[in-house]
Amino acid sequence: MVDLELGGETPAEATDGVWLACVACGETVAPYDDVVYRCPDCDGLLEVRYDEYPTFDDFEGVGVWRYADALPLNEGVSIREGNTPLYTVPEIEADVDVADVRVKHEGMNPTGAFKDRGMTVGVKVAERLGVDRLACASTGNTSAALACYGARADTEVLVLLPAGKVAAGKVAQAALHGARILEVEGNFDACLDVVAELAARGEAYLLNSINPFRLEGQKTIGLEILEQSKRETGEWPDRIVLPVGNAGNTAALYKCFRELVEAGAMAEDEMPALTGVQAEGAAPMVEAVREGREEVRRWEEVETRATAIRIGNPVNAPKALPGVRATGGTAVAVSDDEITDAQRALARDGVGVEPASAASVAGLTKLRREGEIDDDEQVVCLTTGHLLKDPDAAAAAGGDTTPVPADADGVLDVL
Ligand SMILES: Cc1ncc(COP(=O)(O)O)c(C=O)c1O
Ligand SMILES: [Zn+2]
Repeated sequence: MVDLELGGETPAEATDGVWLACVACGETVAPYDDVVYRCPDCDGLLEVRYDEYPTFDDFEGVGVWRYADALPLNEGVSIREGNTPLYTVPEIEADVDVADVRVKHEGMNPTGAFKDRGMTVGVKVAERLGVDRLACASTGNTSAALACYGARADTEVLVLLPAGKVAAGKVAQAALHGARILEVEGNFDACLDVVAELAARGEAYLLNSINPFRLEGQKTIGLEILEQSKRETGEWPDRIVLPVGNAGNTAALYKCFRELVEAGAMAEDEMPALTGVQAEGAAPMVEAVREGREEVRRWEEVETRATAIRIGNPVNAPKALPGVRATGGTAVAVSDDEITDAQRALARDGVGVEPASAASVAGLTKLRREGEIDDDEQVVCLTTGHLLKDPDAAAAAGGDTTPVPADADGVLDVL
């Protein structure tokens, strides 16, 4: 049984109105006394709970920390994350034939991916806990963000990457920001198994999305989408389509909506339908949603060009699956070629993204074709990472270069 009920009594473990609760058994845990990632009783996932949930009137300022009243701390280790653009995409909107399509481009965060929203919170919590080494497993973007925020906080960072399966831009970021980079002979899920054990042995503070504080920061994607959509279209979106790897964002968006419902700022039937997209070669969440199962089956073999979502064991599935269901959403798998087509389509509308991000638009296109999304919907697609993260994929998807001589006549001859 998953218990995602908010509200009720503030437990004795609360500090400043904040505590951790197990989504499986309801056990409550003090947030800052000890380092804890899972329920001490049943090993279930933890989430951050509050004695009070804010409404839109409570927010002021710009970026992630505009939403401080919805976060466990008042300030973070910040490099001005959040406040990313919500773009119109006229060509895509016409192609898929849906009333309104917008793209929330999380690639416009400081390190080029949504991870910064989680790290600004998570690294600050790490400071408060007094840990001296931060660590993560990563398909690339988490390592880039943790390296950057760890550098800013002047704390040692260890990242475990699946050897040969991380895009060049991301490794470059982790390297330049000074992380200790360990290349593991195994996929992302194996990296996470190893780093989780190191964390359990007290060797490092884990900042993967199993860390409940990270998802608090990522909730602000939802708050921004709702505020921007209302401002620009007068409505909240009917649906949010997003790429799924560990299902952290799916869980975070659902938590965002639940908190707004608890605060009386949103009706339950106003929650946008959470629609997850995975690559065909790494689609355990899609399998679970389509088969109506409560749990995902881990895929041992995963492969996709969208290396950021090359994940076979989505750790946040117990929080995310109820969100897909409760919001009337769905999940869909797309091929690598469909992902590349969507990457090109976004580029034609002026939005440069890495392959995993384009999965959202590929999923929208496929679900429209299959008649699962209506033409009168207002849809937001989440693009999670910037084009420059994976320059090889971008170059392969784009046009060829043409050699020319170094004179104007020679160039005109070629043209
Ligand atoms: C670009 C990009 N998109 C999507 C994801 C998956 O996000 P989540 O784990 O929240 O499902 C990741 C993270 O691994 C990513 O780097
Ligand atoms: Zn528990």
